[in-house]
Amino acid sequence: MTVGLEGVVAAETRLSCVDGAAGRLIIGGYNVEELAAEWRLAEVAALLWGGEAAQVSAQLGAGRRAAAGKVPELLAVTAGASVIEGLRTGWSLLCDGDAAEHDLPAPALLAGAAPVFIAALWRAGRGAEPIAPDPALDQAGDFLAMLGLDPEPAATRALERYLITISDHGMNASTFTARVVASTRAGPVSAVVAALCALKGPLHGGAPGPVLDMLDEIGEVGEIEPWIARALDGGERLMGFGHRIYRARDPRADVLKQVVAGLRRPNSRIAFAEQVEAAALAALSERHPDRPLDTNVEFYTALALDAIGLPRELFTPAFAMGRVIGWCAHIMEQEQSGRIIRPASRYTGPLPAGAAPVKLAG
Ligand code: ACO
Repeated sequence: MTVGLEGVVAAETRLSCVDGAAGRLIIGGYNVEELAAEWRLAEVAALLWGGEAAQVSAQLGAGRRAAAGKVPELLAVTAGASVIEGLRTGWSLLCDGDAAEHDLPAPALLAGAAPVFIAALWRAGRGAEPIAPDPALDQAGDFLAMLGLDPEPAATRALERYLITISDHGMNASTFTARVVASTRAGPVSAVVAALCALKGPLHGGAPGPVLDMLDEIGEVGEIEPWIARALDGGERLMGFGHRIYRARDPRADVLKQVVAGLRRPNSRIAFAEQVEAAALAALSERHPDRPLDTNVEFYTALALDAIGLPRELFTPAFAMGRVIGWCAHIMEQEQSGRIIRPASRYTGPLPAGAAPVKLAG
């Protein structure tokens, strides 16, 4: 029996392939490096959902406009909630019939709603009014504009490249959750809400914030090596290094490293972070010579989102905004397969007196 379902094949998919041994991520038949460098987010959504990119882009804009109509209702019930909890409520306010009412496919409404709800929730937490979406912009640019940040081209494209890079990643916990719920025919809204509940945990989508916390704690160049040595001596994990599946380099880390390089500003924390990365890799290789421990996606996610200008509170919501593209594709694929996901469990409790032993119970 495999606790945690490691290595268990739960679905057949044409959507993405994580080749951990080779350090490769293929999304819809393309290497993630190519998609992040050359594609637009709407093109990737069209690749995963089907359809034409121009039409998907227009539908995402229409989805944002439709979702904006729910913002007053959302803000009325989320005072004091974190942005990620508010996003969960926002998606819950949608009904499966809403997309058809707006003449939209469900993925376009769900994905379009993410930047609208996140931006409105974040601004409300600062006492600011929501900014209406502009359907003529793309998802990334409109998100920055709705936050009240400058949607200048370099930051917008960097954010778009981030969203593409994390749009899908095999049978991760939130995607699996989406497929389980979709397999019961509960509908796409419920499947996306459930996926978000899985994503928000610190073992899944909540890791990039702690990378910045670690950099803050280290503080200065002279402290890098002693801080790392103390942390490793104390049995701590260095945030942003190592991966359960990638036994070679996480390809997303390289993509985001390039994104970060394009955003380098004087006095940014990027140069300092690179020094921390080099010292961490040296220390990890010295202590684990037989186990390659490389930089993972979270290290450069933290640096990229920080350089784009997003506050730490928005890191996990931004992850959800990108990953909802993949969730929706998996939900549609699962709905087509028609088979309910229903694994078994092994019973380890007591048996009724005189009962025969049970080998495998459902
Ligand atoms: N810092 C210090 N030591 C580490 C690290 C790290 N980041 N990663 C692994 N190790 C050590 C382990 O403690 C273990 O040591 P041991 O043999 O003395 O017990 C050894 O290296 C081998 O560990 P693995 O089997 O490779 O690690 P595992 O698969 O259990 O964990 C994980 C993977 C959770 C990502 C781990 O590397 C970690 O905690 N990293 C830091 C947190 C982090 O960056 N999380 C984001 C991951 S990316 C993502 O999930 C999208």
